[in-house]
Amino acid sequence: MSPLYILSLGLLLLHTTPLCSSIAVSNDTLTAGQVLVVGGKLVSRNGKFALNFFQFQPTNTISKSTHNARSPSSWYLGVWFNNVPVFTTVWVANRDQAITDHNLNLTQLKISSDGNLVIVNQAANTESVISSSHIVNNRTQTSSINTSTIIVVLLNSGNLVLRNSLSSDLVLWQSFDYPTDVVLPGAKFGRNKVTGFSRRLISKKSLIDPGLGSYIIELEDTKGIVLQYGNLSVVYWHWPSPSTSSLNLIPILKTYLDSDSRTKGLINPTYVDNNQEEYYMYTSPNESSSTYFSLDISGQININVWSQANQSWQIVYSEHVDSCTPFATCGPFTVCNGIAKPFCDCMENFSQKSPLDWNFSDRTGGCIRNTPLHCSTSDKNITSSTDMFHPIARVTLPYNPKSIDIATTQSECEEACLGSCSCTTYSYNNSRCSVWTEQLLSVNLNDGIDNTSEDILYLRLAAKDLLPSLRKK
Ligand SMILES: *[C@@H]1O[C@H](CO)[C@@H](O)[C@H](O)[C@H]1NC(C)=O
Ligand SMILES: *[C@@H]1O[C@H](CO)[C@@H](O)[C@H](O)[C@H]1NC(C)=O
Ligand SMILES: *[C@@H]1O[C@H](CO)[C@@H](O)[C@H](O)[C@H]1NC(C)=O
Ligand SMILES: *[C@@H]1O[C@H](CO)[C@@H](O)[C@H](O)[C@H]1NC(C)=O
Ligand SMILES: *[C@@H]1O[C@H](CO)[C@@H](O)[C@H](O)[C@H]1NC(C)=O
Ligand SMILES: *[C@@H]1O[C@H](CO)[C@@H](O)[C@H](O)[C@H]1NC(C)=O
Ligand SMILES: *[C@@H]1O[C@H](CO)[C@@H](O)[C@H](O)[C@H]1NC(C)=O
Ligand SMILES: *[C@@H]1O[C@H](CO)[C@@H](O)[C@H](O)[C@H]1NC(C)=O
Ligand SMILES: *[C@@H]1O[C@H](CO)[C@@H](O)[C@H](O)[C@H]1NC(C)=O
Ligand SMILES: *[C@@H]1O[C@H](CO)[C@@H](O)[C@H](O)[C@H]1NC(C)=O
Ligand SMILES: *[C@@H]1O[C@H](CO)[C@@H](O)[C@H](O)[C@H]1NC(C)=O
Ligand SMILES: *[C@@H]1O[C@H](CO)[C@@H](O)[C@H](O)[C@H]1NC(C)=O
Repeated sequence: MSPLYILSLGLLLLHTTPLCSSIAVSNDTLTAGQVLVVGGKLVSRNGKFALNFFQFQPTNTISKSTHNARSPSSWYLGVWFNNVPVFTTVWVANRDQAITDHNLNLTQLKISSDGNLVIVNQAANTESVISSSHIVNNRTQTSSINTSTIIVVLLNSGNLVLRNSLSSDLVLWQSFDYPTDVVLPGAKFGRNKVTGFSRRLISKKSLIDPGLGSYIIELEDTKGIVLQYGNLSVVYWHWPSPSTSSLNLIPILKTYLDSDSRTKGLINPTYVDNNQEEYYMYTSPNESSSTYFSLDISGQININVWSQANQSWQIVYSEHVDSCTPFATCGPFTVCNGIAKPFCDCMENFSQKSPLDWNFSDRTGGCIRNTPLHCSTSDKNITSSTDMFHPIARVTLPYNPKSIDIATTQSECEEACLGSCSCTTYSYNNSRCSVWTEQLLSVNLNDGIDNTSEDILYLRLAAKDLLPSLRKK
């Protein structure tokens, strides 16, 4: 497959600057006074990475018409693997500030007069900033540097660096400090103990939307690595710091990676803890290989290696063997089954809220009822309902149950649920009655991998949905 993004090199000179034709345009560098526009790109010296304005394209499995029906053609500036024929971004500058088609011709990447790296909308007399490195907005920080000597370089590592052209040590800003959902070899994942600055990853929203998604991974002070579902702050995986625990991740990971021929000698993980910083990092000694560590849309941490033979990315390591372990990975009102393909399905008599979003791996909308519940509460506060319950066997109980202590039999538990129009589900086991009044999250089938729960969930459904199957019986 040829890359979808065949773009010509087009570094344009900004006509309003006094610095003009004297600038030699080199492919990996943008200097003060130059601008990068749509159609142009920077390429790292080794050819491995490129930076440009791009659009996410529908893959060939998804019809173009459905994609276009929804997408207002959002454009982003990002770094991607230039030598891999499957378009794979490793960093996006404007995750939640997409550029629309309408503004495209006016959009530029440049070094602003105050020394920041900015994406601007350059209308006739006004310039509005879409995205900025924000790091050099303090004049005292740059006072020692003549801003006309600031350059931006896309390094061989994929790191986009804003620095003084006279001294490569003087890094003002770098993309490795502001990762999106990927850690490349040589980038630090961790925190600065002095400033508190933390390099964390946040998953994408979907395959076509790099905006801030549901999952966050961060190296926290004292807690170690924490992986959580951001919206509800539910931590579903963590790894303590070696300083507070005998369980050191590095030797465990090394043993694992060395046992696989695809990763043996290819990935060297390290952990650094000193007075200044605590971080994890890995290197990849084989310059011609392509690899990246990612937090994916469904909440999995993966190590991905490009397979030349298969012409595809291979996931050589996943932190969770069970796809169902990431919290709420299938969205509300779904059942997750780690040994099924696909592993997410709607609960019975529910349908995907947005099949299109599901196709782009965004399942945050989950599933919705086919038939509304039949329940009402009278003036005298008497609730009447014709709804019925459908058992879902051998599942984990969903997030956030409410205990009903006064119900001590299963029928009392069922009555308690029917007595409230907001109750969606109940479960009864060992005189323990639990009900749920919100969306059901993280209902995982006993798939024998990560969970062996034997609980039964009684899902409330409209009688209309259940009567046909009851009559058959
Ligand atoms: C820039 O890239 C073009 C084509 O990719 C190449 O022909 C040219 O030699 C490159 N220039 C420099 C200075 O690397
Ligand atoms: C952008 O510029 C191109 C070429 O100059 C032109 O064909 C296109 O119509 C312009 N698009 C918009 C939205 O102005
Ligand atoms: C600028 O930097 C100095 C020294 O780092 C700091 O004291 C000051 O608060 C900063 N000013 C702004 C506006 O950030
Ligand atoms: C910055 O450098 C440019 C080119 O070297 C020079 O023309 C300009 O006067 C310098 N500006 C300052 C404030 O030193
Ligand atoms: C997070 O919660 C807010 C408010 O409840 C909701 O609007 C939003 O869709 C949620 N985001 C995700 C990714 O679930
Ligand atoms: C380095 O990686 C390339 C591309 O994946 C592969 O063809 C080559 O065999 C690797 N070299 C070594 C020494 O492993
Ligand atoms: C990659 O290709 C090889 C040889 O064609 C095959 O044996 C292997 O299963 C493939 N790997 C994956 C993950 O598909
Ligand atoms: C989602 O993908 C499936 C299978 O690829 C396809 O049949 C279906 O039409 C797609 N749905 C939408 C809304 O794009
Ligand atoms: C109605 O009944 C429910 C539970 O049976 C109770 O929580 C609620 O306070 C009652 N509301 C009024 C207005 O009496
Ligand atoms: C398995 O399910 C039980 C019961 O819901 C839960 O307490 C436990 O955390 C789950 N384990 C995993 C690894 O998901
Ligand atoms: C009931 O709960 C216990 C633990 O609380 C569990 O071991 C058992 O499998 C459950 N049984 C059913 C039928 O849910
Ligand atoms: C509800 O789901 C059951 C089981 O899948 C099915 O037999 C029944 O027809 C559904 N009810 C309606 C009204 O679709």
